[in-house]
Amino acid sequence: MDLRPKKSFNGIDISIIRKMNALAGKNTINLGIGQLPNNVPDSIIEQGQRGFREGQTRYTSNQGMPELRELISIYHTNKTGKKISPDQIVITNGAEGALWNTLYTFLEPEDEVLIPEISFSVYDTISKLQGAKVNCYKLNSDFSIDFKSLESLLTEKTKFVIINSPTNPTGQMISESDIKRIAQLADSMGFYIISDEIYSELYFDNIVPETPLSYTDRVIVIDGISKRAAATGLRIGWSVASEELTKPMIVANQYIATCASSISQYAAIKSLDGSSCDFLESVRKDLKKKRDFVFKTLSSINGIEVEKPMGAFYIFPNISKFGKSMDIAKKILEEEDVLVIPGVAFGEKGDDYIRISFAVDYFVLKQALERLTNFFNNWSNNENK
Ligand SMILES: Cc1ncc(COP(=O)(O)O)c(C=O)c1O
Repeated sequence: MDLRPKKSFNGIDISIIRKMNALAGKNTINLGIGQLPNNVPDSIIEQGQRGFREGQTRYTSNQGMPELRELISIYHTNKTGKKISPDQIVITNGAEGALWNTLYTFLEPEDEVLIPEISFSVYDTISKLQGAKVNCYKLNSDFSIDFKSLESLLTEKTKFVIINSPTNPTGQMISESDIKRIAQLADSMGFYIISDEIYSELYFDNIVPETPLSYTDRVIVIDGISKRAAATGLRIGWSVASEELTKPMIVANQYIATCASSISQYAAIKSLDGSSCDFLESVRKDLKKKRDFVFKTLSSINGIEVEKPMGAFYIFPNISKFGKSMDIAKKILEEEDVLVIPGVAFGEKGDDYIRISFAVDYFVLKQALERLTNFFNNWSNNENK
């Protein structure tokens, strides 16, 4: 018998983001990675070192360390104004682990999942790996939810509607009124929201992202420290759901991972106990400065249209006047040695865009933007000859 991946693997491959990143050379300016350039805060480093010395290197409970879950529950209680208990939390291998646990635990092959037409590709991939059907709801030109489209796709088979705010790859935020509207829809139509809030601490302009958990219990929140603490490699994420929904997710976590890394869980305590507040404040300030610079520069390039990001660390300019996203990204890499992610990595509707991460050193960013400006201006000049 030939050994082949199971049928649901058909058409599933390493993501375009990873493939593009593999093309980066030694001197390439990489604007393709979704992580802060900083090291983790000192308090996390010291806690990790303490953890090794104290022997925090053994299995934890499948659900995660009680002390960390307690802090996570306080964080979400403060955010939602609703009592969230540590029993509602499962600590996972990154936010992606929480997404996997959720979709693996609840999806049946006949179920439908609605995702934004431009979104983090993992939602589509993991849902399809469970055999479920994925439909894409439309976004308006400012990337807000097109509720007419979303409502038209809802059926009795719709189990989950996935939202992500602030958003990868657009950097936009779902408004308070839209969050309330989707929460009401979940209550009236009977689906569950998966709210991916991994970028929720990275916002600009003092507008704090809203969560549907404040307005309905029909939601599973996905969160983690990867983006807020510059800690993508520690692999600490979590889910927040009702105790009833959490119970089978703990079982899934046991058979998938046993538990998240004990030393990482221990270190993550310092991301949630208030000792990283200054770090976060300075990260926000720094990202806002970079956001302003990138937005201003891209807006001044003829032929590019761009929405101002409100959070995360991505900007998603429309480059359709120049061509399709994969061609443009490859040419930018070849001619300017700058790596950006083609928007098609986030769905067909993303093909008019490229994703630029501005979470890099300011001087590197300046150099990259000079090269991008040069690239697009040269293109226009050549086209006009
Ligand atoms: C929207 C979104 N959700 C989840 C994740 C996964 O985060 P983690 O590294 O904690 O698994 C990412 C990572 O890029 C992301 O962009």
